Amino acid sequence: MRLLAPLLLGLAVLAEVAVAGRDFYKILGVPRNANANQIKKAYRKLAKELHPDKHQGEDDANEKFQDLGAAYETLSDKEKRAVYDRAGEEGVNKMGNGGGGGHDPFSSFFGDFFGGGGERDERIPRGADVVVDLWVSLEELYSGHFVEVKRKKAVYKAASGTRQCNCRHEMRTEQMGMGRFQMYQVKVCDECPNVKLAQEARTLEVEVESGAHDGDEQVFVGEGEPHVDGEPGDLKFRIRTQKHPRFERKGDDLYTNVTVSLQDALVGFSMEIDHLDGHKVQIVREKVTWPGARIKKKDEGMPSKVDSNTKGSLFITFDIQFPKGEISQIQMDAIMEILQQQDVNPVIYNGYRPN
Ligand SMILES: *[C@@H]1O[C@H](CO)[C@@H](O)[C@H](O)[C@H]1NC(C)=O
Repeated sequence: MRLLAPLLLGLAVLAEVAVAGRDFYKILGVPRNANANQIKKAYRKLAKELHPDKHQGEDDANEKFQDLGAAYETLSDKEKRAVYDRAGEEGVNKMGNGGGGGHDPFSSFFGDFFGGGGERDERIPRGADVVVDLWVSLEELYSGHFVEVKRKKAVYKAASGTRQCNCRHEMRTEQMGMGRFQMYQVKVCDECPNVKLAQEARTLEVEVESGAHDGDEQVFVGEGEPHVDGEPGDLKFRIRTQKHPRFERKGDDLYTNVTVSLQDALVGFSMEIDHLDGHKVQIVREKVTWPGARIKKKDEGMPSKVDSNTKGSLFITFDIQFPKGEISQIQMDAIMEILQQQDVNPVIYNGYRPN
């Protein structure tokens, strides 16, 4: 009997853990104080990894994916997250309008990154694709970003009555008497339930992937223009890069220009460049720097979209700011004394002469 009491206590603790529901933070692999962007990023990454299409034949694949969906649905919603933090999953389920209720957040999220559009039936007519340019900053492309796009879309809704549909042209032949006949074309249609166009508002979450390139597209299947007899087209967001005041991008490399004083160019200098995510790039130069000199900082370029652990390079090209104004005779003598370039004659050439 003495032994039984702690055992019962232990069971009670176990039961409580079970009632408290799933640990959504653990499922997403984020800390409890994670911000909305961290949660989206974690979800997006895991959704790709855990998608059941990639784990066919594994018993728990669907379950894991559903856990992930439920975790995201709760933690991405401010209200639900607050309830969850206080009262766990059970609390969220009590909120009504279904905590884990039916709808799949994945479907309205991120568009289609599994290339599912491949198995389309060509015979079904489709509405037009809609392509939208999405202008983003280089900072957003460096760190990755989510853009919420509110979209009003036209959809066909059922209406009273019928309409002609699936119309096609058929050839008819009519006997006109002995050996004479006439061929003509008729339009044949089916009768379908009537539809009307209605506006539907929807929020789409477009991910700007870290390292994405200008022109990359994110496709939301079926979010394009509707087709009365078929399927809607796709909605495509195309990445467009805004001009940046300090950096220029070529592939995964970044380029920037720095102008230093003639003095710094001669005696050396150290400086910092603010990078796109705010970190500082240290530049220490102990040699003479000439106009057009270029240094390369490895791994300070853009992150690679293919492998987020690798980065391109940052190329810094220097220009020299010469002093303005007069130089006195005494200063001239001092400069000549230091530089000792009396024997260097001007070089005349056509075009760019390296160094
Ligand atoms: C750097 O200077 C060169 C030459 O003036 C110019 O073509 C280039 O666009 C500049 N790059 C940046 C990032 O300002």
